[in-house]
Amino acid sequence: MLPRAHGGTLVDRVMDETRRKKIKGEISDIPSIEISDDIAVDLENIAYGVFSPLEGFMSENDYRLVLDTMRLENDVPWTIPVVLDMNGEEFLKMELRAGDTLLLKRGKTPVALMELEDLFKLDRKEHALKVFRTSDPSHPGVKKTLSMGDLLLGGKIEFMEGIENPFERYTLRPVETRILFKELGWRTVVGFQTRNAPHLGHEYVQKTALTFVDGLFINPVIGRKKKGDFRDEVILKAYEALIDRYYLKEKAVLSILRTEMRYAGPREAVFHAIVRKNFGCTHFIVGRDHAGVGDFYGPYDAQEIFGEFPDLGITPVFFRRFYYCKKCYGYVNEHVCPHEGDDIIPPSGTKIREMLASGKIPPREMMRPEVAEIILGFKNPFVE
Ligand code: ADX
Repeated sequence: MLPRAHGGTLVDRVMDETRRKKIKGEISDIPSIEISDDIAVDLENIAYGVFSPLEGFMSENDYRLVLDTMRLENDVPWTIPVVLDMNGEEFLKMELRAGDTLLLKRGKTPVALMELEDLFKLDRKEHALKVFRTSDPSHPGVKKTLSMGDLLLGGKIEFMEGIENPFERYTLRPVETRILFKELGWRTVVGFQTRNAPHLGHEYVQKTALTFVDGLFINPVIGRKKKGDFRDEVILKAYEALIDRYYLKEKAVLSILRTEMRYAGPREAVFHAIVRKNFGCTHFIVGRDHAGVGDFYGPYDAQEIFGEFPDLGITPVFFRRFYYCKKCYGYVNEHVCPHEGDDIIPPSGTKIREMLASGKIPPREMMRPEVAEIILGFKNPFVE
């Protein structure tokens, strides 16, 4: 049985057509705030239930509880703040107060209405230390936090219109994935988070998990990433090439998660699991250094944190690092392989990227040549 949405009900905050027309007619009378692309895509996530049970941006109470206890006011697990930030001076100029209705727009697109519930100060350092476990500005999540406005605005939203989605054909909403999984006859589904083009380590965690569930949901994060990460279209084309040649078509679904990478390691792993539960997954893969960056987290910290959430409602599936072993002649990990040192070839993301950047095909033990060729077909496969 597919799980119910996180918190019990799949959230739907999409404005109906009649109201949308009416609001559009009155739009010039509503005070408006310009939002970023990151916020615009997360508004869509809230509206279509990807972030269930959130119905809007966090109020102060939920925000504080998420920072301190990793739970919402109703005790439902939640680890990553979903907040709307604004510059205090700008806010003062607008003379807004709780109870007001705000239009959140991106350029000419009226993305959503928000009922302003409360507003509170952002302590950037505290936020960074609690979410990312560091205040080091070289951490991409901390860097982003330091650039945020000093006020946070909480309140429920009603979604009107999304910003352009260049990957529409790879986009499925939770209502759609849930129907699809049922049509495929899947009773158990393992979700896979990624921000990378696939190497053999990725393939083997997926396939090992797939040996004991009905289906695999490959769900790459598409959105703002750090310099040097693979570009979105490269990831998607690389996965298509891999699935085409090496996967059973009736066992794998590829669709995107449009949100920014936070690089929050352990906390983000739990958030990633919750989101995949909302898409209908029963299981979720957490391998080595999930959502990590640099050396900020221990390689298995993102697995340990799940011990705090026995009530998550999705089963995490943990894997030690997969690598090629010359003695075993196959892809294995330290749970099953006694060899080490020169006998093993781990699929190093850094090495793979370095080789691809200089036009070389990485060793077969790390990446499928068909995948490497697709990547090399792009003029610049990396985020600049
Ligand atoms: S992430 O930031 O999205 O976590 P990435 O796309 O590299 O980065 O990883 C996706 C998932 O695969 C994560 O759960 C990660 O831990 C896992 N993973 C990546 N490489 C390996 C590997 N060699 N062995 C086991 N798990 C891995």
